[in-house]
Amino acid sequence: MRSVIDQLPGSKIREVANAGLGRDDVLAFWFGESDEPTPAFIRDAAVRSLQDGETFYAHNLGLPELREALSRYTGSLHKPVDAGRIAVTSSGVNALMLAMQALAGAGDEVVAVVPVWPNLTAQPVILGASVKRVALEVRDGAWCLNLPALLAAVTSATQVLLINAPNNPTGWTITRAEQSAILAHCRRTGTWIVADEVYERIFFRPDSVCAPSFLDIAEPDDRLVVAHSFSKSFLMTGWRLGWLVAPPVLMPAIGKLIEFNTSCAPVFIQRAGLAALAGAADFVPGLVQRLQACRDTLLPALAGVPGVTVAVTDGGMYAFFRVEGHDDSLALAKRLVVEAGLGLAPGAAFGDEAEGWLRWCFASREPVRLSRGVERLARFLRL
Ligand SMILES: Cc1ncc(COP(=O)(O)O)c(C=O)c1O
Repeated sequence: MRSVIDQLPGSKIREVANAGLGRDDVLAFWFGESDEPTPAFIRDAAVRSLQDGETFYAHNLGLPELREALSRYTGSLHKPVDAGRIAVTSSGVNALMLAMQALAGAGDEVVAVVPVWPNLTAQPVILGASVKRVALEVRDGAWCLNLPALLAAVTSATQVLLINAPNNPTGWTITRAEQSAILAHCRRTGTWIVADEVYERIFFRPDSVCAPSFLDIAEPDDRLVVAHSFSKSFLMTGWRLGWLVAPPVLMPAIGKLIEFNTSCAPVFIQRAGLAALAGAADFVPGLVQRLQACRDTLLPALAGVPGVTVAVTDGGMYAFFRVEGHDDSLALAKRLVVEAGLGLAPGAAFGDEAEGWLRWCFASREPVRLSRGVERLARFLRL
């Protein structure tokens, strides 16, 4: 086995979940998904496709009608994007891996804004690249980018800059001004930007239906790949469907890489994706409203627990917080499972920069589950 694979750390979230194995009394908020199943209008489309016998291979880059629909959907949120620049992928994480396979290999330098969902930083390592981490910082109770530090870290030796915003786990959302400065800098250094914008619709500012995107400001030929997913905005985590937007020059390479990775996304899953996009205008705003209600239940309740500090967040579906006197997040998360029946993700799972923090996914059909979870945390801390 390649030593780089042997040395990949296991998932610390799984480690915590394993501590609760066999217990059905744990209130689990450790994974990044809602407890609400995919809406019926999306499931029905997949069932119809299967009943119609759509069980064959498809085009590497996706069904033309889905690429067209994604082009219209993207254009409704950002600048117009030609369908020829869109590839349908087998999940968001697959979109990110394809981008990384196309752009970074042995000896290349990748700069990543962290803390971040660990899959993003593992992918370049798997491919033999090195990862330079630039840490977000907490200012006035919210996670923020140190823009000068990031720009200093990205040089002409940097092949790829990886940015996930709205960010998992911190909830940090990049600003338009930061995006503009980063894009201008990367044009100078010749660095590719891989932007993970899978949470763009899970955004709670009243003046916008989605978070700032690099697609709003970039030109079609810019060195930019944006990775997307059906998982979060359409409650489709188990379907494994995503897409990416890339410049025309990269598309033949993406097509080849899809052939050698998965060959195509299953047609019946793509039909579900088409139904999701057709229903997006009716479905997504309601989902965002429900998630906002969850956030507005959880954040103040957590902030009211003595010793707890919660980061302010407008995007994503996570509360990120720390507890005074508890600096080892993995140990605390394990104790919370065993002693309090509360399942959270340890900050350490997202990098050393997030040690001491805990992540709580607030996407829940019943906000009362969140309140019950906070009661368990408060009781545990009182003991
Ligand atoms: C930041 C981030 N990017 C990408 C993904 C990938 O989503 P999926 O592979 O389910 O499409 C996730 C999932 O949790 C995520 O948190």
